Amino acid sequence: MKARHARVWLAACAFALGASAHAQERGYDAASAREAWTLNCMGCHTGDAHAIPGKVPPLSNELGHFVRLPEGREFVMRVPGASNSSLSDAELANVLNWLIDTKNADTRPADFRPYTAQEIAARRRPALTDVAKHRAALVERMHKSGDTAVAEQY
Ligand code: HEC
Repeated sequence: MKARHARVWLAACAFALGASAHAQERGYDAASAREAWTLNCMGCHTGDAHAIPGKVPPLSNELGHFVRLPEGREFVMRVPGASNSSLSDAELANVLNWLIDTKNADTRPADFRPYTAQEIAARRRPALTDVAKHRAALVERMHKSGDTAVAEQY
């Protein structure tokens, strides 16, 4: 009985270590990302990051398409909700990497490089003022390149 418990315990540890090594490799710590999400983003973006039609875009599935383009990668950190949040550069990198890995797992490019605090520090400001115009131009570029997954309207 004891040996069986030990095996179960060891398997659970190996699983937890595996999951945290995976997250670390992908540039985030899940517990602090969830906390940052809950306190800074979820109020507008909903718990599971789905869209509120006509008001708030989804952050699940679609971000994986945005980050394929360098301009899209920058757009994601410069929208006001992200850029102007009280999160530090490292915390913003953490929550974005977590969003992309956990809520955009099917659409993130295989060669996605996690955001780093240095990149966020260099690019998050100034926040975009004309978000709709930037977004429309980006979506048009995606469509022209054959990637039509993201619609202009949400
Ligand atoms: C006060 C409400 C609010 C908060 C808080 C907020 N957002 Fe947003 N977010 C929006 C709205 C509204 C949009 C649509 C563009 C705009 O008007 O800024 C948006 C757009 C975005 C987009 C662009 C997606 C797209 O398809 O255009 C990203 C990425 C994003 N937010 C990330 C975040 C993150 C990460 C946080 C938390 C750090 C956050 N937002 C906090 C309301 C919010």
